[in-house]
Amino acid sequence: GHIHYYDFILKESNFTRLCSTKSMLVANGSFPGPVLHVHKGDVVFVNVHNHGNYGFTIHWHGVRQPRNPWSDGPEYITQCPIKPGGNFTQEIIFSEEEGTLWWHAHSDWTRATVHGAIIIKPPHGKSYPFPKPHAEKVIILGSWFKEDLMELLAEANSTGGPVQEAEAFTINGQPGDSYNCSAENMYRLSVDYGKTYLLRIISAVMNEALFFSIANHNITVVGSDAAYIKPINTSFILITPGQTMDVLLTTNQTPSHYYMVGSPYVSGPAPPDATNTTAILEYSGNYTAPSKPVTPTLPGESDGDSVMNFTKRMKSLATQDYPINVPTKIDTEIFITVSVNQIVCPNASCSGPQGNRPSASLNNITFENPSIDILRAYYSNISNVFEGDFPNKPPSIFNFTADTVADDTKYASQGTTAKFIKHNASVEIVFQGTNVGGGAENHPMHLHGFSFYLVGMGFGNFNKTRDAPNYNLVDPPEINTFGLPKNGWATIRFIADNPGVWFMHCHLEKHATWGMNTVLIVKNGTTPETSMRPPPKYLPPC
Ligand code: C2O
Ligand code: CU
Repeated sequence: GHIHYYDFILKESNFTRLCSTKSMLVANGSFPGPVLHVHKGDVVFVNVHNHGNYGFTIHWHGVRQPRNPWSDGPEYITQCPIKPGGNFTQEIIFSEEEGTLWWHAHSDWTRATVHGAIIIKPPHGKSYPFPKPHAEKVIILGSWFKEDLMELLAEANSTGGPVQEAEAFTINGQPGDSYNCSAENMYRLSVDYGKTYLLRIISAVMNEALFFSIANHNITVVGSDAAYIKPINTSFILITPGQTMDVLLTTNQTPSHYYMVGSPYVSGPAPPDATNTTAILEYSGNYTAPSKPVTPTLPGESDGDSVMNFTKRMKSLATQDYPINVPTKIDTEIFITVSVNQIVCPNASCSGPQGNRPSASLNNITFENPSIDILRAYYSNISNVFEGDFPNKPPSIFNFTADTVADDTKYASQGTTAKFIKHNASVEIVFQGTNVGGGAENHPMHLHGFSFYLVGMGFGNFNKTRDAPNYNLVDPPEINTFGLPKNGWATIRFIADNPGVWFMHCHLEKHATWGMNTVLIVKNGTTPETSMRPPPKYLPPC
């Protein structure tokens, strides 16, 4: 592999959208930020400079970072924030990923403005498992907030209430012509007739899953989360925050202008930003363009069946060239309830907003950030930073999707807990969405340090006797993020061969803020080659 060097300068700049201008933190002056171009097997050093007003960290979403949690990035999990005036060089090791990933800030709500694509081509001299596309384009879906994100977050923290949602969705940074003052700069993709394009689609959206579709064009999904999948021919995709999809588009329709549309899948209460974001696919050549581009038909805004059916179509290639490695014998079983519920402040002295407040939890524990990072605490045996007692299952077993539930499951306790896992353990995690907090939504669950196999998924309560025999152990998709139905379950499996401290959380920013997070600590093996690398010489101070 090759070695690449990048500098990311993060600085406040002015951007105008939705008829108003605001100053916001971006990398290298652009929104979305710079693209990392690599081949599988390469190593990238990114020197991240903070020329802004507050601390932040950068995460390389979906990059496994073998034995190198030091450069993973989530704040207070693997490092402390890079302070204004400071810098930190992260070493990003591309070992097995191939396709599209992305990088984003992993502190506060900064990822709304600080993110960009990572393009991982096949190793030098190798080609795609599909015909070479005529051209490749990155499509980043995002969220736009008119107000300053740090102010919004401060407001939410002081009231203990929910954080205000975005005013718009965006395609490559632009809301598109369904929003005020946004028609002129909307993203336009110019194409030639009769070619195949590879679209690398990334969801950097903060709080909603989106349907995405191009009018009159079927598309073929060939990869997700930097692993190839068996081609799925479809008129739309469903993409949750954190996910990436590689999609082939063949330009075989009458030359014209066609809308590309991202529309929210409303699994919970309707978001205020529910207007569709638009961009235009425009054919080159001489023709009279319609006054309005052709509009696609998308699934209904709360069509959960379409979401489930689309997700279930994803299957690994599972060929000799692209083998899979799904554990069949499990030695570490974890059952996690994923809930939006309430924190009850047990006494007057507890930190944070007093009294009941909305909260989000895993196994009824609302994660609280420690004051120094867990990785440093674990590596250097610093006590009182976290507890290693994240439970294997929820405190009580109940009908997770019933409308009325016992009081002890309505309320979560606060804690900074991690789960220890033996090196090379065969891990199975069953996630159970609950209806505890009525207005809950689908949860894009994401794990750092690994890709995992999604072996099963369904609505309702998980039932091992009924559901386990139907697991797909032949060609399950190998991914890093999936949408857990709010009242359904999903099972993932992976081999814990990557020692380190790895964050696991819901990729809806509001749920992560409310504590829908935990940490897996995968222990070292018995040799230096199967153990965590030593820390880099310089880490941002806490
Ligand atoms: Cu996109 Cu914790 O990550
Ligand atoms: Cu969630």
